[in-house]
Amino acid sequence: MSEKRMNTPPPAFGPNGRPGRGMPVVKPRDLKGTLRRLWEMTRGYRGGLGWILLLSGLASGVGILSPYLTGNAVTAISEGRVITALLLTLTAVYLADWLIRFLQQFMMARIGQRVIRHIRQVLFDRIKTLPLSFFDRRQHGELMSRLTNDVDNISTTISNSLTQLLTYAFTISGILIAMLLLSPLLTLVALAGVGLIFLLTRTVTKRTRRLFREQQKALGALNGQIEESVSGLSAVKAFGREESMEREFGEKNDALCRAAIRAMIMSGFLMPLMNVINNLCYLAIAVCSGILYVRGHFASIGLITSFLLYVRQFTRPFVEIANIYNSFQTAVAGAERVFEILDEKPEPEDRQDALSLKTPRGDVEMRHVIFGYTPDRQVLRDISFRVPAGTQVAIVGPTGGGKTTLINLLTRFYDVTDGSILLDGHDLREYRLSDLRDAFGVVLQDTALFAEFVTENIRYGHRHAGPEDVRRAARIAGADAFIERLPRGYDTVLGQGGAELSQGERQLITIARAVLADAPIMILDEATSSVDTVTEQKIRRALLTICKDRTSFIIAHRLSTIRDSDLILLIEDGQIAEQGTHEELMALNGRYALMYRTQTGAAA
Ligand SMILES: Nc1ncnc2c1ncn2[C@@H]1O[C@H](COP(=O)(O)OP(=O)(O)O)[C@@H](O)[C@H]1O
Ligand SMILES: [Mg+2]
Repeated sequence: MSEKRMNTPPPAFGPNGRPGRGMPVVKPRDLKGTLRRLWEMTRGYRGGLGWILLLSGLASGVGILSPYLTGNAVTAISEGRVITALLLTLTAVYLADWLIRFLQQFMMARIGQRVIRHIRQVLFDRIKTLPLSFFDRRQHGELMSRLTNDVDNISTTISNSLTQLLTYAFTISGILIAMLLLSPLLTLVALAGVGLIFLLTRTVTKRTRRLFREQQKALGALNGQIEESVSGLSAVKAFGREESMEREFGEKNDALCRAAIRAMIMSGFLMPLMNVINNLCYLAIAVCSGILYVRGHFASIGLITSFLLYVRQFTRPFVEIANIYNSFQTAVAGAERVFEILDEKPEPEDRQDALSLKTPRGDVEMRHVIFGYTPDRQVLRDISFRVPAGTQVAIVGPTGGGKTTLINLLTRFYDVTDGSILLDGHDLREYRLSDLRDAFGVVLQDTALFAEFVTENIRYGHRHAGPEDVRRAARIAGADAFIERLPRGYDTVLGQGGAELSQGERQLITIARAVLADAPIMILDEATSSVDTVTEQKIRRALLTICKDRTSFIIAHRLSTIRDSDLILLIEDGQIAEQGTHEELMALNGRYALMYRTQTGAAA
């Protein structure tokens, strides 16, 4: 009856089921170092760890006690004694077992989850200080997976593996002692059996693990295909690629099916076989103990019962420890990836003597600016220009020429590789970064909207702006008309990224945001590329009033909208190909003039 007291399945001598699964184990590169750092992370949350240790000891103590009591009960029955008291004690032991396990779980959940909350917080804090260049090197999906999966893995390990490992360690030593006390000779036999089973299990696991790894790979391939198909479904439909998509899916689906069948057949063959061997070993030990009993080696039949129950309990921890150790390694590897992010260099801190920039005038100068996102490719090559405060600068040129990059440098999203950028006579790097960013009102090419009220989205950088200010900004940006048509007007909650709005509408909201921010220097990066020409002209006129007397940089493709600018920079292939006013550039009759004529269709 005491065989089933553990909550894992019964045939307990040696492995069963799980060990052969052999899910791919990811090994950490520096197990010790990572563990030490994890331990550091638990600082401030360690109260209660002592309790867990104590509870683990108690849990294994109870586990060791019950076979002994069961054996006693068997002896008592065989001698015809009354066993009510024994049965009651056993029941009490089982109840105590439950209580101890619950308390263990309780403490572990509290500590583990708090540590994890702490890690998530630290990780998130770090991510927001990282320079944008960090994100260029990574896929969003991968980052997300670090923030969620890896951290989650750590938590499971901390809360589960730790308690289990502790309990098993206690159990193994406790049972070993109990078995030695019962019969040193039989213990030797049992240990030999366990050793044999353990070696066999390892060999079998190696075989099945390879197959399961293949299955995992096939699953990964299929998942990738599904994700691509779903996220690109509109393209698939538009280009009539359904058939090839289906065929690819079918192939990957088949591959997964075959791999899974192979893995399951193999483990289905080997695992029960292992069970047979287990049982034979167990039988051998039972026979040995029977012989020893007949020879008077044991004082009572109950001791044999106890011993055999111990043998069953003894092997499980070994197998489980191997399993737990594997998931433990995977979790530590996850922790390693998390620490990798924590080790990334954040955006450079402001210098001690950083200048504050409260009311910038807006003189901007670039001196021989050279820049590449990666060392192997220069995107900007020797850019120099100088504009006094209040200048309206238009930046035009072919796609990929480096216009957005220029803006990225101006706002210090990235730092120049060589050369320098000056604002009001000082290098950008001399200013406090937060002041510098405040100096710019930016409408970027990629609209970034948040799943919040429209109002909140507009006053994103200006939390204290009142509803009237928001409306005025929206009016100037030409966004008021469509916002009022939304189901709940300004109180409409947008979807993720403003999904339900058209690209143009999203642009209008971000323009309103920039208008409200009322920054000394305005930057518009193809801010109106997705709105119709009439609306664009309206916004353009409104922005003219806003940008009046402010330095502004406007990147635009429709040249008609920027022809009144004070200075036009034609950026081509990372260089300033032409610069001047519209009239000057037309008179020059170069690339700009050609582009302009092409666009306006004017032959002259
Ligand atoms: N984050 C980035 N990492 C690496 N290369 C980039 C990145 N952003 C842009 N580039 C490259 O820099 C060049 C200039 O891009 P960009 O400044 O966006 O051009 P434009 O705005 O004029 O269309 C392009 O060749 C582009 O591929
Ligand atoms: Mg661009």
